[in-house]
Amino acid sequence: MSLSRFPTDFLWGAATSSYQIEGAWNEDGRGESIWDRFSRQPGAIKDGSNGDVACDHYHRWRDDIAIMKQLGLQVYRFSIAWPRILPNGRGAVNQKGLKFYSDLVDELLANDIVPFATLYHWDLPQTLQDEGGWAVRSTAEAFVEYVDVVTSALGGRVKQWITHNEPWCASILGYQNGEHAPGLQDWPSALAASHHLLLSHGWAVDVIRRNSPGAQVGITLNLTPAEPASSSQHDQEATRHFDGFFNRWFLDPIYGRGYPADMVADYAAAGRLPGGMAFVQAGDLETIAAATDFLGINYYSRAVLRNSQVPEADNEPRSVFQAPENEWTEMGWEVYADGLYQLLIRVQADYNPANIYITENGASYSDGPNGDGKVHDHRRIQYLHDHLVACERAIQAGVKLGGYFAWSLMDNFEWGWGYKQRFGMVWVDYETQQRVPKESAHWYSRVIAHNTVQPV
Ligand code: FCB
Repeated sequence: MSLSRFPTDFLWGAATSSYQIEGAWNEDGRGESIWDRFSRQPGAIKDGSNGDVACDHYHRWRDDIAIMKQLGLQVYRFSIAWPRILPNGRGAVNQKGLKFYSDLVDELLANDIVPFATLYHWDLPQTLQDEGGWAVRSTAEAFVEYVDVVTSALGGRVKQWITHNEPWCASILGYQNGEHAPGLQDWPSALAASHHLLLSHGWAVDVIRRNSPGAQVGITLNLTPAEPASSSQHDQEATRHFDGFFNRWFLDPIYGRGYPADMVADYAAAGRLPGGMAFVQAGDLETIAAATDFLGINYYSRAVLRNSQVPEADNEPRSVFQAPENEWTEMGWEVYADGLYQLLIRVQADYNPANIYITENGASYSDGPNGDGKVHDHRRIQYLHDHLVACERAIQAGVKLGGYFAWSLMDNFEWGWGYKQRFGMVWVDYETQQRVPKESAHWYSRVIAHNTVQPV
């Protein structure tokens, strides 16, 4: 086990997002979001819950910042709820919504915690969805208006901006497989949505730079390294396709290569692009390739691919994902820390971002308080330990990794899973809203204090 120190300017943080923690869904002029609407559809959320109250962070934010301070967090990644700022998506600005984030930022700064703001973590104003949401270009234009309002107000104090969180989820899970808001199942809409999300990112970069001089601007992608289950040509082909669908479709245009030709061909052959790539207009690819200061990477697991169409010689059951014999979190995601190392090496080699932050990494385990009032979440500590060792190895191999954000600061509303999945380093009792830092929080606090991975 290595115990070398991280670079002295390495940033240690934790992440959350607005809809997952804030609650107060209809207070102080907040407009309806697609998650308010979607979570009320019967069957949409596994435990029938929604984010109406969540962690009640909208009222408890001072206490939550006190916990961050106690843990020694240097940086806090949170997201801004568009419908609090522009309740109708565009037009009238809700000053009370802006004030909430302005006060939050002031309190973070007063506690020496650097605010790292995500502009879109999936809570689109419902009024924009009623016009087609991300499947239409006008939503990208509305995003620019929203970004202008937010960064004009906060850009002097917030100097780290993420335009979008995981456009793969926002487009594919939202418009193609229906597991996320708005709950649609339509490939052409999903692919158009992916483009409009990326386009709005490119437009926003300019606006942020204008309103927040000296700011660092980037985008966060959820990247999943893909490996074939066997050396068969069919499995390798399935792996190429998955990597294109999940990773390259977003990385390639952001780094100036346009959409990957093999994927355009695959989608066209499958009838998913009935209008071709007509949603890509002149100049869009240049806009999307706007220079950024960092790439945010969210890493949770890898994918092992077996071609579902082709029977294998060994007659194993056919599946798209082959389950390797390994440990799994309660989300059913494989624990595979080496995948993070491989991913960092690959992204550095293939795309050479100016800087990389791990903007999310963590694990769902439901361990709660036991007799001594403590939360002994040893599996989470092991997970964080192993992934931080992977980061350390990547830095030693020359990867420009500038910081790490654990997902999540506290247990929260885990989208389609509701409250049953707990990713937090801080336990939340949803009956009383009491917070209890878990053993992983104390462990992480020592990592930060020593700038070194701690023994488990
Ligand atoms: C990511 C999301 C984040 C959280 C984690 C578990 O895809 O960005 O909000 O739900 O997964």
